[in-house]
Amino acid sequence: MSDDLLKKVISHAKEYGYIFPSSEIYDGLSATYDYGQNGSELKNNIKEYWWKSMVQMHENIVGIDASIFMHPTTWKASGHVDAFNDPLIDNKDSKKRYRADVLIEEHVEKIRQKIDKDVAKGLKRFGDDFNEEEFRKTNPNVLRNIAKIEDIEQKFKDSLGKDDLPAVKELIEELGIACPVSGSKNWTDVRQFNLMFSTEIGSLADGSSTIYLRPETAQGIFVNFLNVQKTGRMKIPFGIAQIGKAFRNEIIARQFIFRMREFEQMEMQFFVKPGTQKQWFEYWKETRIKWHKALGLGEENYRFHDHLKMAHYADAATDIEFNFPMGFKELEGVHSRTDFDLKAHEEYSGKKLQYFDPQENKSYVPYVIETSIGLDRMFLAILSNSLKEETLEDGSSRTVLALPPALAPTKAVIMPLTKKDGLPEKAMEVMNELKYDFNCQYDEKDSPGKRYRRQDALGTPYCIMIDHQTLEDNTVTIRDRDTMKQDRVSITDLRGIIGEKISFSGLLR
Ligand code: GAP
Repeated sequence: MSDDLLKKVISHAKEYGYIFPSSEIYDGLSATYDYGQNGSELKNNIKEYWWKSMVQMHENIVGIDASIFMHPTTWKASGHVDAFNDPLIDNKDSKKRYRADVLIEEHVEKIRQKIDKDVAKGLKRFGDDFNEEEFRKTNPNVLRNIAKIEDIEQKFKDSLGKDDLPAVKELIEELGIACPVSGSKNWTDVRQFNLMFSTEIGSLADGSSTIYLRPETAQGIFVNFLNVQKTGRMKIPFGIAQIGKAFRNEIIARQFIFRMREFEQMEMQFFVKPGTQKQWFEYWKETRIKWHKALGLGEENYRFHDHLKMAHYADAATDIEFNFPMGFKELEGVHSRTDFDLKAHEEYSGKKLQYFDPQENKSYVPYVIETSIGLDRMFLAILSNSLKEETLEDGSSRTVLALPPALAPTKAVIMPLTKKDGLPEKAMEVMNELKYDFNCQYDEKDSPGKRYRRQDALGTPYCIMIDHQTLEDNTVTIRDRDTMKQDRVSITDLRGIIGEKISFSGLLR
């Protein structure tokens, strides 16, 4: 399904004003996209969903908005200047460039799929008597493949841990990995490539004029740790959250908005007492997966994936993966970052970045648990999961974007049945009533059937039709996007009906 579905998502996103290729009139810029009139609404609603749950619903978490440009020493201290690299390899025949770790992970994924196939066969053969757990523990094929995966992962982890790039190349050759484009196994050596974008700034007194576009928003939080702790009188454990742009010179930027060079992150750093990080790591893993699952995109579409290749700052890390059209891929990271960042900033800045713990009666550098989610990836997860082709009872089909109603760009469209008899004026009256509480639109073009279909494809939860009866008794019909059922209700009830359906509280409770 994958490629086809992704293509459908991309063309739907463009046709309905969600996402356009950036600077398209100049033929676009690769891996850069613009959010259109509906896309920016959806994006804002995702941000609100995250901000409400992380900041407003935790009395010990506050939000900030730090600048994109930061003092260049920040990135020396954080380790990004020296260690924010991807191991790259080129295929000499196709001239295509790949991330060595991704080639190996994709190979492992294929072996995993073989295991799943064997399990599916077992289920088919034994039906209700099938014991999957037992089968996974005893079936020789499955055991052989599990051992293969463990062996590959161990070798890969060892060679990256020692920065032994020739060993990574050897592993790729040993596994017989071929270039998906040329089919050949004619590879260059593996080498490291730094992902930060640099630019020049004119006014640094010390003459060093290179600054970086931030590759993560997290560092803006670390350098403000004391400012926020002191002014907010925050007591450990506490968190600082922010939403903002990040930039990475990704070599293989592809798969639509999944991997871009300019993207947005929603990150939270949670400062804890040293020694309690394991417990908080588990807490945030559970809290974050619950937040995802509450959206109703299907529990089976999420899984955890523990990191083999740990970032330079982490002592434990897991990805929350989502079943994108391209398969399961990273959506969010939960990282136990130890005291790496605050200690490094202490060292480089010469400032104490410590917390005085009144209960312990001593100062210490807190440990940090980070939750970091890509806003654009969240957008893609929601958009691709919501796009559906349905066959209706009468045999016709419809395209519906079944977005979670709380996130839908437009909550209700107000439509006059015809453009005459005072119906447009009445419709505008209803619109003017509702627009203070909900993002509404007015639509009078085309037949009602066509208008309904357009709103289904746009993901609008409700269509409100103003007809001749409305003029007599102040009632309207309200059509539900998902059931397509129409009910006649009083105009005065509309606010309550829409409000209940689109409220965040149902998701957050
Ligand atoms: N502060 C930790 C950090 O940045 P990361 O795993 O490198 O960790 C966190 O990134 C999240 O940011 C990822 O889970 C992903 O959702 C998103 N992300 C990372 N690189 C991205 C890219 N090139 N395009 C879109 N989203 C990206």
